[in-house]
Formats: sequence, structure tokens, C-alpha cells
Amino acid sequence: MKTILDLIVEELKPAFTGCGYDEKYIRVTVSNRPDLCEYQCNGAMAAAKAYKKKPIDIANEVVEKTAGSKMFSEINAVMPGFINIRLNPCYLASYVQQVAEDEKLGLNAAEKPETIIIDYGGANVAKPLHVGHLRSAVIGESIKRISRYMGHHVISDVHLGDWGLQMGLIIEELHDRQPDLVYFDPDYTGEYPSEPPFTISELEDIYPAASAKSKVDAAFRERAQQATFKLQSGYAPFHAIWKHIMNVSLKDLKKNYGNLNVSFDLWKGESDAQPYIPGLIEDLQKKGLAYESDGALVVDIAQEGDAKEYPPCIVRKSDGAALYATSDLATIIEREQDFHPDRYIYVVDKRQELHFIQVFRVAKKAGIVKEDTPMIFLGFGTMNGKDGGPFKTREGGVMRLEHLIKNIDEKVYEKIQEKQKVPADEMTRTAEIVGLAALKYADLSNQATKDYIFDVDRFISFEGNTGPHIQYMIVRIKSILEKYKELRGADAKVVPIRPAESETEKALQMALCRFGEVTESAFYETAPHKLCQYMAAVADAFNAFYLENKILSEEDAAKQAAFISLITLTKRVLDTCMDLLGMESPEHM
Ligand code: ARG
Repeated sequence: MKTILDLIVEELKPAFTGCGYDEKYIRVTVSNRPDLCEYQCNGAMAAAKAYKKKPIDIANEVVEKTAGSKMFSEINAVMPGFINIRLNPCYLASYVQQVAEDEKLGLNAAEKPETIIIDYGGANVAKPLHVGHLRSAVIGESIKRISRYMGHHVISDVHLGDWGLQMGLIIEELHDRQPDLVYFDPDYTGEYPSEPPFTISELEDIYPAASAKSKVDAAFRERAQQATFKLQSGYAPFHAIWKHIMNVSLKDLKKNYGNLNVSFDLWKGESDAQPYIPGLIEDLQKKGLAYESDGALVVDIAQEGDAKEYPPCIVRKSDGAALYATSDLATIIEREQDFHPDRYIYVVDKRQELHFIQVFRVAKKAGIVKEDTPMIFLGFGTMNGKDGGPFKTREGGVMRLEHLIKNIDEKVYEKIQEKQKVPADEMTRTAEIVGLAALKYADLSNQATKDYIFDVDRFISFEGNTGPHIQYMIVRIKSILEKYKELRGADAKVVPIRPAESETEKALQMALCRFGEVTESAFYETAPHKLCQYMAAVADAFNAFYLENKILSEEDAAKQAAFISLITLTKRVLDTCMDLLGMESPEHM
């Protein structure tokens, strides 16, 4: 569907050209002063320079030419040369009706669906998921859903950190705790047990203990490095332990991501990229891109026009070890081979920006990725505590995601218990749904690159700019629709959206028109916050409409039925936004 803005431009074209002005000057925006007008065209200002006339004269001429337009109920030229527009309510209603009849609510799906890889999540196996991983999961999941809604073929990959020093640390800590395990018997030649030598809660204890030990015990650290090296060189007993670590952790990770309403198509990790590394290095050398520098192998990435100096990308350390960048480049080789992506999107902490600039540039320079394939790095800011510093537990440690979520759910539980609106058997689930929306909304309502402050009490409030507030509006609509069904039963007729008769009704209709356009820009700009902010605007428009109009007690059945159509569409738009942002709404609140 064409957007309302496009349609207004089309309507203005004959007026501009009829007065002798080029149509390219026509630009229409939603007005940010709804008290003055609904839409604004600034074309006369732009044309004034080219035609050496006063903007107001051009605006007046154009306005005069639009006389008789069925689209506008009001169109005026105002100083210094703006054209202020209000839509004819009949025109708006029929447009909104088309949105209601459209399967995608007015969104124009991509003409050429792309294959898109989204790399987010990025948990490190055997280390607890912490709040830093929360943002990647929340933002990435939403980008995945928006991209799919646009009609693209999207492959989401959690890209686990599963090949680093943490593995050696765990192996050596296990060695100290259970020296008699067969994995540590060099003479053992039998099969390795299929049962893991630890449970998830033991594993959760092993890593932090090993990590702490390595900081004070240099010999232990050295052993862990050795073990990591042996694992990476394919030493069978350690590989068997690694498999156990993977199996036990993956089950737990899947549960944790599941609780966040986050899912992945691929559960690959750095380990999967390892087989591609030798070929990568050879290729970089053959192409003359990689050269030795202080024993390490590096690729220059500086480009003409760079505003700052970019250090070369190290692809092999002087001790022969591969690095993070090597593993990411190798992963790209694998992805190219398996999927030929048309676009890459990485959702990672913005402090990793340089790493991704290096990786992307090497990938393009080496021809691993085509020059015109977009490689997008969406770097997000930090979630901070109220003191402005990085978010911590009360004891000053790193907050585990599980605990953070549990804490929010408990607070929400208390709140809904007080309000007494939720049936007893829905309480726990409702607290989870509301708690998750509180957390996700707080994250997604800000531009991803910005830091934000974690403030549970504000996030879970049912009023203001929060996820629960929007859920509350949806629950309110659900309740009205149910009561309406009880009231009118079989008599209820489905009628089209009617021409608005009040400002609040019109404002709600205007908000509903914008779903497609906003979702498209959220995709093209990789900016889910735009959709999140839009969702809040729709909820606010509904609230204002609801406060001003009696719906259930309306006596005029036709008018009431039209209201019902309008709020039914409102609910569909809100539900769709919620879903695209990875949230749900409960039945009662
Ligand atoms: N595991 C990494 C970390 O915790 C994030 C991985 C991001 N994705 C990637 N392809 N490098 O920092």
C-alpha cells in the first residue's frame, strides 16, 4: 500500500506542476504541531530558491490549485511558506479501512526478499549469561522478527563463545576436583563415558572458581592455557570433556533464551569456524594481504578518507594462535558457503566496534564477501545501575540474567496481587509476561547505541512510558471486546471504520495508518526503537480516544459497531508491534 504521505504528495503534484513548479520540491511530513495541522508540506520553501520567489507566494498559488480536492478538509498557506493540511475524515477512514483489510496492516513487503544472517545472543558457554548478553538477545530478536515480517529469509545464529580459555579453565579445575576421571588418565584407551562428569549447577560453580583461581595462581593459569591449546589441537580426552560442557550448557542456555522469548535457527559457535581457519590464512597470504609484523600475521585495513587511524587486523598471534577476528572471518567463510547472505547484521556491545570494522574490511578486501553486501554492526550501549556505573548485584558482582528476571517477576507478582484483577491460576504466568515486557520495553524504547539506567520500579509501572502500560491498554481493549460480545451477542455486526467525528478518534486513525511505514523504516535503519516508540504512540492515542468516548454504553448501535472496528484494528496493530518486539500481553492485569 502507498503511505498516506505518498498519497498526499501525489495529490499535490498536479497543483505544483500546474503552477509551473517541479514536483521534486514536494516534501510532506507528519506535523509535530497537531494543534495547527496534521500534515505539513515544505515544498514551497524548497522551490522558492530555485524560482526566486517568496515561499508564501508559491504556497498560496499551490493551495489555490488544490481547490476541490476530496482528500483535504483544510489546506492553508502560512508564513513563511508552509502548507498546512488536514485530511478529510472520509478519506482517512477509507484508508484506515484498507489497512484493516490488509494482511500486513499496510506494510509493503520487500520486493526482492534477501537472505539475511543475524548474529546476536553471543553467550559464552559455561559462563553465566549476564545482563550484557540481555541487550544483544532482546534487540537481535526484534530485528529478526521485523526482517521476517518484511518478507526476508532470515537466519539467526547465536554464535556462542565456545572455544576460548574458559574451556581450559574448566578442564583443569575439573582435574583438580576429580583427578581420577578417565579423561585425565593418559593410559586410558577405552570409550569416554556418555554421562557428563558434572551437573549444570556444578558447572556453574566450576567456572567462577577456576576463573578466580587463575587470577591468583599463575601455575594454574598456565595449565589452563595448555589445556585450551590441547583442546584446540584436537586432544581426544579434552574434546570429550568439551562435548559434555557443551551439552550441559546448551540445554541451560536454550532454557534461558526461551524464557526471554528468544530463539535461534542456528546454535553455532566459534568452534564451528575452526576448520576454515587454515584456508583463510593461506588465502590472505596468497592474495598478499597478510604480512608478518612482530611475529604476528596482520592485514592492513586503513582506507583513504578514514577520519581516524585504524590499526591492522591481527589474524594470527606470534605463538601461532588464532584470535577473535580470525574466528569471525572464518565464520563468514562458512556462512558464505552455506547461505550466500545478501546482508549481515551483528548485534554486539558497541565496545566491539573496532573489531567489527576490522573484520568487515578484511572480509571485503579478501573478497570473502561481495563489495556491495551490507555488513551492519549494530553496537549497543550499556545497561547501567542507578549510580550511573555498570549494573551490578547488591554485593557488587556481575548480575546473572536469571536472577535479574526473577527479581522483576517477583516485583510484578506483588503488584498484580495488590490490584486483584488477575485470576489466581494466571498469576505466575502473568507476572512473567509483564516482567519480560517491562524489561524488553525499557531496552527497546531507546536507540540501541544509547546507555540506559536500570530502574525496576519505573520499568514495571503500569503508567507512563513502559511496557506494562501498553499491555494494560491491550488488556483494556480485550476486555471491551469481550463485554461487547456479551452485550450484543449475535446482533453484533462488523462495520467499516467510520469517518472520525472527534479529534481523538481522528488521531487514533492517523496513528494506525503509520504501521507499515514505521516498520519499514525500523527494518531499513536497523532501528527497532522506532517501532517501539510507535507502539507507545498508538497506545497513547487509544487511551485518549477511550477516555473521551463511551464505547460500551454507546446507545447508537451503528456508531458503537464502528468504534468496535476501530479498537479491533488498534488491538491488531498493538499485538503485531508487541510480537515484532518479542513481547506478549496477558489476558488480565
Ligand atoms: N561471545 C562474544 C562476547 O561475549 C559475542 C559474540 C558476538 N558475535 C560475533 N560474531 N563476534 O563478547
